Amino acid sequence: MEIPIELDHGSRQSLQGQIFEQFRRLILGGRLKPGTPVPASRALAEQLGASRNTVLLVYDRLIAEGYLQAREAIGTYVSFDLPETCLAASRPVATPSPDQVETSGCLAIPFLGRAQAVVSARRLAFDFWLGRPDPHSFPIKTWRRLINKALATAGARLTEYRDPGGLPELREAIAEHLGAARGISVSPEQVIITAGSQEGLNLVARLFVRDGTLVATENPCYQGAAFLFESYCAKLVPVPVNEAGLNVEQLPKDGVMLVYVTPSHQYPMGFTLSLERRLKLIDWARRCGAYIVEDDYDSDFRYRGSPLTALMGLDEHGCVMYLGTFSKSIGAGLRLGYLVVPKALAQAARTVKALLDNGHPWLDQAVMGEFIRSGCYANHLRRIRHLYSERRDCLVEELRRHFGDVRLSGLESGMHLAWHLPEHYPSASELQNLALRQGVGIYSLGSGAAYDYGGCDYSGRTVVLGFSSLDEYQIRAGIQRIADALAGLPASPALPVATY
Ligand SMILES: Cc1ncc(COP(=O)(O)O)c(C=O)c1O
Repeated sequence: MEIPIELDHGSRQSLQGQIFEQFRRLILGGRLKPGTPVPASRALAEQLGASRNTVLLVYDRLIAEGYLQAREAIGTYVSFDLPETCLAASRPVATPSPDQVETSGCLAIPFLGRAQAVVSARRLAFDFWLGRPDPHSFPIKTWRRLINKALATAGARLTEYRDPGGLPELREAIAEHLGAARGISVSPEQVIITAGSQEGLNLVARLFVRDGTLVATENPCYQGAAFLFESYCAKLVPVPVNEAGLNVEQLPKDGVMLVYVTPSHQYPMGFTLSLERRLKLIDWARRCGAYIVEDDYDSDFRYRGSPLTALMGLDEHGCVMYLGTFSKSIGAGLRLGYLVVPKALAQAARTVKALLDNGHPWLDQAVMGEFIRSGCYANHLRRIRHLYSERRDCLVEELRRHFGDVRLSGLESGMHLAWHLPEHYPSASELQNLALRQGVGIYSLGSGAAYDYGGCDYSGRTVVLGFSSLDEYQIRAGIQRIADALAGLPASPALPVATY
């Protein structure tokens, strides 16, 4: 079977990226139906004039993202069980043209976006899904007390419109916290309260991104950011990362409007952007007239040494926007975060926020403001930092005990680490599938909410494991099961899924 894919060898997009994108569209557009076998990698490589390795990496990614399934002795075919995110994205497959006709009573939706994976697709007994805070550590008693206290003094605050930028007390508390924790000196007016960093990203995109705007990102990077910029029709520019973070030397010399980075704990690889590169990045942005979007999603958890000053703390030119979130430090269900912008952008950011939703709910902001001001936040952070460092140590110890001298990255901070698989191991998606049969969730980059443009050094041979929401028993049992799976032992009996 010939697959209708055309490659543009002059394009800036890698061949791998082109094949992946066109394959995905054929599946979502219904031209490749569930159950259809795909050609052998060698045959497709020959048809396209690409290397077999390129096709194999594309197949790996399509499997990891749930578009294809591989079965021993049967081969690889289009998934019957397309993930929800694919189905959502499958409705609008093309931008409507003026001559577009009505289909089943309604016009096709012009929106082209797809959403990041925010929860593991399956509920597993031992799920190393990334970025989940410990469910038992949510400060529920304090929260209840602070809600009651805020309600008792709410007055007209629940009935009136308020400043769309956010509650002044919370903005002040955040500005103060950022000074002490991240070396960022800002006034409360520069802080816009958002529904998590995802809304912060939307504010940034509304401010800067139009059709064709160049947005550089790390490769690989966080899906939530890449998909978001993509949905605003940005042109994404992948920039490689290595142990010292984003390779600043490989940024384009001009034309880029935004560069999105995760300097504290590169998502998904866990690298820390070195001080030298931080300074170079700021210098590059100043010279090119670009803005840096600094996503500091899990910087509260630093286990070795002291944290490097945030880019925004180092910036003297007003070219950094900073995204903060309480999703990792307290809980994603709160939907609370903030965007900090240079002074010159404060008014425009507040206007965009007003247009989007007229401001974040008052009660949530009042409670969070008091939680920080009363010192409860600092105590909470201290406690869970200690807990997560123990869980991280346990995970590292178990990996070493079962698999020897494992190559890991991202140990210094954060809530997950990356395991670089040696050549003689199965690929990341094969290992993910083996573990899945044992009731264990570990994730290849594409399945772990990472956007992998392909062609990066880590594609296909890295699995990511979150450790913050699993207790030590679960960590030990989960890793034991992976070792059993690799040793070819039969699947352990299914265990009940943990519920909270
Ligand atoms: C890199 C990165 N940024 C941001 C977020 C959090 O987003 P939000 O604050 O919208 O919950 C995540 C969550 O997984 C993430 O991995």
